Amino acid sequence: TTYWKVAAADGPRPEWLQEAAQVLQEGGTVAFPTETVYGLGADARQTAAVEQIFAAKGRPSDNPLIVHIADRSQLEKLAASPDEAVSRLLDAFWPGPLTVVLPVKPGVLSPLVTAGLSTVGVRMPDHPVALRLIAAAGCPVAAPSANRSGRPSPTQASHVLEDLGGRIGGIVDGGPTGVGLESTVVEYVPAAPEGEAGARAGVLHILRPGGVTAAQLRAALPGVTVRETAHREDAAAAPRAPGMKYTHYAPRGVMTLVQGDAPERVLARIQRELDAARARGERTGVLTYREHAGALRADHVVACGSLGDLESVAHGLYAALREFDEVGADFIMAEACPEEGIGAAIMNRMRKAAGDTVIRV
Ligand code: TXA
Ligand code: MG
Repeated sequence: TTYWKVAAADGPRPEWLQEAAQVLQEGGTVAFPTETVYGLGADARQTAAVEQIFAAKGRPSDNPLIVHIADRSQLEKLAASPDEAVSRLLDAFWPGPLTVVLPVKPGVLSPLVTAGLSTVGVRMPDHPVALRLIAAAGCPVAAPSANRSGRPSPTQASHVLEDLGGRIGGIVDGGPTGVGLESTVVEYVPAAPEGEAGARAGVLHILRPGGVTAAQLRAALPGVTVRETAHREDAAAAPRAPGMKYTHYAPRGVMTLVQGDAPERVLARIQRELDAARARGERTGVLTYREHAGALRADHVVACGSLGDLESVAHGLYAALREFDEVGADFIMAEACPEEGIGAAIMNRMRKAAGDTVIRV
């Protein structure tokens, strides 16, 4: 695995860019930073290259990959032209943490990218390193998060090395990512023609909550219903991102989430569970926030950002989950955060990390 460090003083054609783009062109894999998390990229048209992504990650082959592009003209080549509502979203949020699911054009992408679906998820990342690399490679770049399947997504190059060192062609280290959680995945289903009642008609479905919030999507699309599908536990009737069904983002220890309206009761319950686990001889960890870190006792206390600034929580969440692995915590309690704004995406990932074990007090 070649390691390239991006420096602020890099010239217009730095070595990392030429070498990393060449690895992609020759069918290899390169991890690179985006504004959300690090992605593991490969040329989305080359099946042998895309195969290496699945192999390096240990990713199930029925879970499709997001295709990354550097400019809008690349979109036309691989997907059907977007509805007017989706066009408005692209104007508002690209480049940025929004993935749109569109009907795929046949014969352009490797069928492995779409995992046999008739649609493809596309996004234009808002990160200079990602945009330069995709443009230099000159191809659509398939890139899932650059973690081993099931592990928290990487928000630093060191996380990628930890999970995938030796398994991939190279890593471009562009420092820590911004948002810290993955992009929001959406699919727009246009209104059915008159007389045909369609339950999904004229609706923007959020398949995976992420960096762009539901409120931001609603503000950009007045008159369109924005449905937070991923929220619902029984989503049998609803479209979902296939990846949402897998255990994700999980630390190695057993994690339990505690949620309630009264912080004192939440903290008291967390402490009781921690004390009981310690008495059983378990190595304990607790994930909380700056405001409450001083009130909790465990072998390892992680203050993950501030409740007054949920962006800071999103930014630090995956590193916090990895920290529990580093200290060998086998019993982890986590304090829920409010589900407003980016909090919806944070809680979605925390529930998954906890395997849906939630105590309500
Ligand atoms: O922020 C991100 O989106 C990061 C960075 C690297 O761009 N990428 C990322 O990719 O999170 P990945 O592969 O870890 O997650 C992709 C998600 C999965 O839940 C997958 O099921 C869903 O997007 N997805 C991809 N293509 C889809 C499609 N055609 N229809 C529905 N869901 C799709
Ligand atoms: Mg992922």
